[in-house]
Amino acid sequence: MLKRPFLSLLIFISSLTAVYLVYAQMGRGMMQSMVRHHYIMRYGISEKYRGKSNPIALTEENLAKGKQLYSTFCTACHGSKGYGDGPAGKSLNPRPANLSSTVNQPMTTDSFLLWTISEGGTAFKTAMPPFKEAISEEDIWKIILYLYKL
Ligand code: HEC
Repeated sequence: MLKRPFLSLLIFISSLTAVYLVYAQMGRGMMQSMVRHHYIMRYGISEKYRGKSNPIALTEENLAKGKQLYSTFCTACHGSKGYGDGPAGKSLNPRPANLSSTVNQPMTTDSFLLWTISEGGTAFKTAMPPFKEAISEEDIWKIILYLYKL
């Protein structure tokens, strides 16, 4: 008879721990791009970008260009280190993604990044702007080279 309450307490504590772990994970950047990831699971990456990989060589020069473009177009929201903590992103919902964790996710591919940066969040109404008009595809690839160095 003494065992029952002990067991319930144990279950209660384990659920609290589980909830805490889920929240901690969200805080680290899972929350931000949930809509994007749901969209991809439903529709996949549009054909225009599917299967593409970065044709730009990883040279000092290309990286420097990528860095310069990143600081011009991305830092305001994603922050200089890519943590998603830029001044213009603070009031957005969803918040700008933590790109330093994005590039370490198994689902992050070159075509995912190219599609995301080109088309932004237009299809599912997030504040991520589409850059296909403002930046050439070649230059977007240079930004992508740089994202892996954040
Ligand atoms: C006006 C703010 C803003 C600017 C500027 C901006 N972003 Fe974003 N970005 C967002 C927001 C908000 C999200 C999260 C919602 C989404 O995924 O659409 C996001 C998401 C992303 C994602 C998806 C990450 C993931 O894990 O799903 C990538 C990649 C990205 N941005 C790259 C860039 C790059 C590169 C630039 C510069 C060329 C840039 N962003 C400029 C607001 C911005």
